[in-house]
Amino acid sequence: MKEEKGKDNKSIDYETNNLISSNYDDHKSLKSQENTASKPINQLTNGLLGWYSVSSSEELKEGKLNFFTIYNEPLVLYRDRENIVRCVKDICPHRGASFLGGEVINGQLVCPYHGARFSSQGSCTNLDRITCQHIIDSNYDNYAKSIKLLQYPCVEKEGYIYIYYTGTPQSNIEDFEIKSSLNSLLPDSYGFPSSEYEYEEVYVDFKADWARIIENHLDILHVFWMHGNTIPDKNVNRNTITSFNQKIKRDNRQIESIYSYKTSSQEEFIRIKFVPPGRIFIYKGSPESTRYIQVLDHIPLGNNRARVIVRHYRKFLKNKLFTNLVLFSNLQRKTFYKIFTEDYQVLKTQTFNEQMGYIQKDNVKLLGEDKMVQYYWDWLQNALNKEKPWDIHPTNSTTNNVHNDRGMLYPPENPEMAIKNNRKILIKLLTRALFPISIILLLL
Ligand code: FES
Ligand SMILES: [Fe+2]
Repeated sequence: MKEEKGKDNKSIDYETNNLISSNYDDHKSLKSQENTASKPINQLTNGLLGWYSVSSSEELKEGKLNFFTIYNEPLVLYRDRENIVRCVKDICPHRGASFLGGEVINGQLVCPYHGARFSSQGSCTNLDRITCQHIIDSNYDNYAKSIKLLQYPCVEKEGYIYIYYTGTPQSNIEDFEIKSSLNSLLPDSYGFPSSEYEYEEVYVDFKADWARIIENHLDILHVFWMHGNTIPDKNVNRNTITSFNQKIKRDNRQIESIYSYKTSSQEEFIRIKFVPPGRIFIYKGSPESTRYIQVLDHIPLGNNRARVIVRHYRKFLKNKLFTNLVLFSNLQRKTFYKIFTEDYQVLKTQTFNEQMGYIQKDNVKLLGEDKMVQYYWDWLQNALNKEKPWDIHPTNSTTNNVHNDRGMLYPPENPEMAIKNNRKILIKLLTRALFPISIILLLL
């Protein structure tokens, strides 16, 4: 890889056109830095409209409907007769009901209001049963043509369900012009052989702004302080707070920051990679050999509402029986929930502060370690101005908030789930302890 020092301690990687910043103490705004450095050739090309990972495959069982919203637009996922995932706008074209309470029968979506059934192509397959044939008999042909579901393109890959979101669903998914490649989101395309890993996964819902949550996951500074007592790593706690050397690498697909200890001869601490619009990879070392990758997907459900899907891939503890025995999954879940609950209070109030205009450039003073956040802000502002995704399906204070309430299913919004998980851990521990005790008692 050829590198050459540029102005401001920056070096341009000519092989990939990446901009690599090695000026750790530079507190200046990136905009002014960019003016003085050679302009990077590659900037993030993905905006806010495009591919989103919205569910894991496991969550979408055959015959089930999974409802969610994205940028306030209500959508529903289901599997059709061929087990292909469909993402449909949650509105029945007969009289506008939601499919909430509806069914999937033989891979066809069925409306709960008058029983209209739809093929996976979105056409109504039982017109005679939902209409009074004797009244509109002469209009049947026209009616049949006009009653159609609206859909978004969907792809299922490596245990994730991706939708191509544009804000404008179509009656024929072939009509979409797919402008961004799904490839840029896939772990495998970054060199992580995902099939070699086992993983745990949790969903978390926040009543906070989507963008603030991503920012939190790009933020190395708070991890030691806020999560120091929760993260099960003895080197990450309030007493071990340290400063890092930071290398930021940007190209048209991603921004990546590599943090290494200043003290111990450049030993790497962690890498954080942001791939727009909503995916973050956290790992250590090279993608091919890392033992552990965290993949976080952020879904902008609506104003002040967001969902995060967290997947922890690991190359260790792969034996299912053993991991079951040590309650690995439940304990992981407990840690995840705790970490997100810790973040939640800050995210909610930070959302308010941001929306009130308190977090303007002059009111906040960023540190060198915040550089990744600053790059992210620059991308976000640009994308928001250009695409205005929140203006496509705007809601206001009088909008019926049925989807807000329904959408928030996971902790910390639903603490009952965390309580249940804790109860499960307790019961499993008791059962494990009782088994040998009862054997001993029997033998006595
Ligand atoms: S509104 Fe769906 S069948 Fe009537
Ligand atoms: Fe956090």
